[in-house]
Amino acid sequence: MAFKTLTKAVVVAGLAVSATAAFAADDAPKVITGASASMLANTCAGCHGTDGSSQGPASPTIAGLSSDYFVETMQGFANDEIPSTIMGRIAKGYTEDELKAMAGYFKAKTFVKAHQDFDKDLADNGAKLHDKYCEKCHAEGGQSAEDDAGVLAGQWTPYLNWQLANFKSGDREAPKKMQKQMEKMLEKEGSDGVMALLNFYASQQK
Ligand code: HEC
Ligand code: HEC
Repeated sequence: MAFKTLTKAVVVAGLAVSATAAFAADDAPKVITGASASMLANTCAGCHGTDGSSQGPASPTIAGLSSDYFVETMQGFANDEIPSTIMGRIAKGYTEDELKAMAGYFKAKTFVKAHQDFDKDLADNGAKLHDKYCEKCHAEGGQSAEDDAGVLAGQWTPYLNWQLANFKSGDREAPKKMQKQMEKMLEKEGSDGVMALLNFYASQQK
């Protein structure tokens, strides 16, 4: 509840300034409510970090995501199609135009990879598993956002691990081909395979 109220308050504040020249030097897309994308995005900074790169494992980094992935994920949270602890409530508070405006804002920011501990042997094994089962849709070792499939390299691994569990249980629907590759991987490698993949994503820090 508190988040929704906070969001609304900021949007209203945005309205108040919109009549002035507040947007002058800001070429971010403007939305119907009059709140600029950066004003909308400011409400996310407390958890996702300034400019969308999260400083801790509790929230994923959202900088650099493709617009399609960003908007679809926010809508998925809002419809409860993608499990969430917090985002379901937050995502419901925005129109599609506002989501698109925020998507454009965060896409332009650099995804700063998380610094997290990893095991080098596991990461090496994970790199091989990634190439075999995941690279096709998560290009450049999971760094590329261009597949509209999120960013895996340098993402906080508790979030990745949780979403992988949601895909596995069916609480989040995976694309059919991803489901197939995950099943193949799990059949051969078991949960050690998931550990190896997570260590590989954590090992990418630059
Ligand atoms: C109170 C903390 C908090 C705030 C505020 C918050 N988020 Fe989140 N966000 C999270 C958490 C935690 C997750 C992981 C999903 C969950 O548990 O809700 C997440 C997940 C996401 C994801 C999914 C990332 C991915 O790779 O799949 C997106 C996109 C996102 N948030 C966007 C936003 C935007 C945009 C705002 C501001 C309008 C925002 N969040 C505000 C905590 C927050
Ligand atoms: C056929 C393409 C494809 C393959 C293969 C694939 N994925 Fe995905 N993946 C996607 C798409 C597309 C999404 C975006 C979510 C959606 O569309 O539901 C995604 C989302 C994800 C997410 C959620 C990211 C986030 O920020 O929430 C994780 C984690 C993930 N994939 C891991 C993997 C792993 C690990 C493998 C290999 C074992 C893999 N994927 C193989 C297409 C694929």
